[in-house]
Amino acid sequence: MAAAGRARRGAGLSAAALLALPALALLALPALPVLPPGRGGGGEAQPGFSPPPGFSPPLLLPPGLREELRQRRRDLRRLEAAAGGGEAAGAAGLGCGDLSRATAVSVLGWGFTKVVARAVLAGGGSVALKSVHGAGREVRRCVQRYGAPAGCRRLAAYKLLKEVTLLRRLQHPGIVKLYGQCYDNSGDAELRVTAMLELGSPLEMIQLLQTPWEERFKICLSLVKLLFYLAHSPLGSIALLDFQPRQFVMVDGNLKVTDMDDASTEELSCKEDNDCTLDFPTKSFPLKCSVVGKCEGINEKKNLFNAYRYFFTYLLPHSAPPALRPLLSDILNATGDLRYGINETLRAFEKVLHLYKSGLYLQKRPLLLKDYISLKGFRTVEGEGHKCWPSYSHLGCLLSIHSAEEAAAICNSQLHCQSFIVTQHRTWTGRPLASFQSSWTDLIPDTNAVVYIKRSASSGGRL
Ligand SMILES: Nc1ncnc2c1ncn2[C@@H]1O[C@H](COP(=O)(O)OP(=O)(O)O)[C@@H](O)[C@H]1O
Ligand SMILES: [Mg+2]
Repeated sequence: MAAAGRARRGAGLSAAALLALPALALLALPALPVLPPGRGGGGEAQPGFSPPPGFSPPLLLPPGLREELRQRRRDLRRLEAAAGGGEAAGAAGLGCGDLSRATAVSVLGWGFTKVVARAVLAGGGSVALKSVHGAGREVRRCVQRYGAPAGCRRLAAYKLLKEVTLLRRLQHPGIVKLYGQCYDNSGDAELRVTAMLELGSPLEMIQLLQTPWEERFKICLSLVKLLFYLAHSPLGSIALLDFQPRQFVMVDGNLKVTDMDDASTEELSCKEDNDCTLDFPTKSFPLKCSVVGKCEGINEKKNLFNAYRYFFTYLLPHSAPPALRPLLSDILNATGDLRYGINETLRAFEKVLHLYKSGLYLQKRPLLLKDYISLKGFRTVEGEGHKCWPSYSHLGCLLSIHSAEEAAAICNSQLHCQSFIVTQHRTWTGRPLASFQSSWTDLIPDTNAVVYIKRSASSGGRL
C-alpha cells in the first residue's frame, strides 16, 4: 500500500502545535473564524450546500486555473441539484462551532488531495476531520502549473465539497457517515472546507490476510453490498474511480468507503460499441453502447472488477471451508471476467453465507463426536500452549464452528488437539467459537460449559 494513504498517528497534539507543522499548515481547522449563521459556516448545521457569496474565483488567477475552477463549480452545482439538498446532515449536523471547540487533534493519514485528523468534540465523541492537503500531490501539481497556491487549494476544496455533497446524499452502512461540515470563504482566493466524519481506522491489508476466513468473507460481503447500493443509488449508478484499499476504513469491524471525491455519477457516453471498452492494466472488456448513448453498466462493471482485483482475490479463497471452495472459485471466475453483474454477485455471496451459517456445507461427513467424552459443568484452562492459525485469539486455538460435531472433526485434524470447549462467544454470523486444547488435565468447574475430551487421550489418563 502506498505510504501516502497510511495512517500516521500523532500523540494527541494540540490544535496549535499541529498547525505549527509546515506541511500541515492547511489543516488550519480549529483556527477557522466562526462565520455568522447564514454565511454557510456559522456553527449551525448546513442542510444542503449553499455556496457563500463571493464564491466565484477572483480575477487575479491565471485563465487556465479560472477555467478549471469554473468547471468544478459547475459540476458541483449539477451534483448538488441532483442530490436535492439531501437529508443526512439534517438538523443535528455538526458545524463550525463544534469544530472550533474540538481538541486533541492528531493526524491520521493523508492522500493526494486531503489530510485527515482525529479530534475529540466538546461532548467527548471522536470524529475524523477532512480538509485540503496543502502540501499534497494534487495542490503541488496545480501550483507547478499555475503558480497560484491559494487558487489551487480552492480547486482542491471543490473536490472535498463534492465528497461532502455525495456523502450527504448517499447513506449506507458501507459509506462513512457525514456528521457535518464547516466552510470559510472569508479569504480572497481561499475556500476552507472541513468535513466532519465518522472515525475509522485505515484498512491494513496485511493484517486482514491474517484474520480468519469468516472475517475476510464479511469484508468482501460488505463490499458487495456497498457496490449493490452504488449501482442502484438515488444518484444513478456510481463508479468509484480511485478504487483501492486505502480509500476504505474499518469502523467497528465493518468496511466503509471514505474517499468519494473521485466518484462518478455519470456513465460514459458513446456513439457505438467501440467507444465502450473498459480497460484495466491486465484485461479489457468490450461493452455495449445503449440506445440512449451510454456505455451499458460501465460504472457497475468497473467497481466489480476492482473489487475482484483488490479484494476478492486476496481475501476470499485461502483457508475457506473446503466444501465452499468451488462456490468461491465460481465467484472469483465470474467477477474476474465480468460474467456476473453486481446482482448475481450479491446472490452468490448470500448463497455462500446461507450454506455457511446453516452448516449445510458440512453434510455427508463421518460422525466423529462419538470419539469424545463430554463432561458437563467443566471447562479447560485457556492458553495450554496449543496454537493454530488463523485463530481468533493469540493465546490459543480459538475457531468458529457450526457444532460440536464440526469441532470434533477439527480437533481430529490437529496433531496436538486432545480436547475442546464450545464457548459462549459468537462470531458475526452467529456461530460459536470453540477453544481447542492440547491437554485436558486442568479442568475448572463452570456450570455453563461442556468439555469434550478425546477418548484416546483419556484412556491412559484419569477418566
Ligand atoms: N473517516 C476516517 N477515519 C480514519 N481515517 C480516515 C478517514 N477517512 C480517511 N482516512 C485516512 O486518510 C487518508 C486520506 O483520506 P482520503 O479521503 O482517501 O483522501 P485523498 O482524497 O487525499 O486520497 C485515507 O487513506 C485514510 O487512511
Ligand atoms: Mg484517498
